[in-house]
Amino acid sequence: MEFTDVLFNRRSIRSFSDKPVDEKLLNDILTAAIESPSSSNTQPYKMAVATGATNKALGKALLDKYYTANKINSMPLPMKVVSAVTSGALPDGDFKPILGKYPGEFQERRVKTGHGLYEVLGIERHDRESRDEQMARNFTFFNAPVAIFFFIHPGMTHTALIDLGIFMQSLMLIATDKGLGTCAQGALGMWKSPIKKHFSLPKEYKLVCGMALGYPDDHKVNDYRPPKVSLDDLLITAKN
Ligand SMILES: Cc1cc2nc3c(=O)[nH]c(=O)nc-3n(C[C@H](O)[C@H](O)[C@H](O)COP(=O)(O)O)c2cc1C
Repeated sequence: MEFTDVLFNRRSIRSFSDKPVDEKLLNDILTAAIESPSSSNTQPYKMAVATGATNKALGKALLDKYYTANKINSMPLPMKVVSAVTSGALPDGDFKPILGKYPGEFQERRVKTGHGLYEVLGIERHDRESRDEQMARNFTFFNAPVAIFFFIHPGMTHTALIDLGIFMQSLMLIATDKGLGTCAQGALGMWKSPIKKHFSLPKEYKLVCGMALGYPDDHKVNDYRPPKVSLDDLLITAKN
């Protein structure tokens, strides 16, 4: 593909076929992403790649956490507190999610994107159950045969997050070029303990998020292409 075609063809894929990703191809994609730039070439990130039985076991463990947490969330307050502490389902990721609404225009964009996705899926705005089910699919990586978990070294502060973001974008573009689909997943940063069970995680590294990778299937959800803001919305006006 022409580079610009790759850029425009990439979109978040939320339904994957069972077709496995060849080990060499996966290795080639990850190796190519290492070409990404990073601050002073520090490359302050690491990744854990879950395929095969590990992928399935991790998906099940994360899904269990999600369902337990979700059940607790709908309990009355005193029970909620007790169950949250005893269930082991409290998020134990390294970065706390933003609770409640996003600030200002970001909440508007978030809501618009969410509504667009539910519309494509035929989910009514107030159908909490179906929305929760869609959320749940995150934890089994939308059926992708490859799940990647990303970590950064916190000593590199904000530069590590920038460097990881660039690495992830390279990975997504290379995968697109090879006919694969991806979805970056902040949801996979919620629970670290299940990942710890399957990988020898370096102590100092912090879990940021994850990514599903595999062959897109023909589910309508994969046609969703949320509109982006215009360049004018992003440009800061110069003073005269
Ligand atoms: C850091 C990051 C985290 C994301 N987390 C999730 C997620 O947890 N679940 C999900 O379905 N999509 C997730 N996405 C995908 C975004 O929703 C998506 O990129 C956005 O809606 C724009 O759509 P596009 O990727 O198709 O251009 C994430 C994207 C990024 C970059």
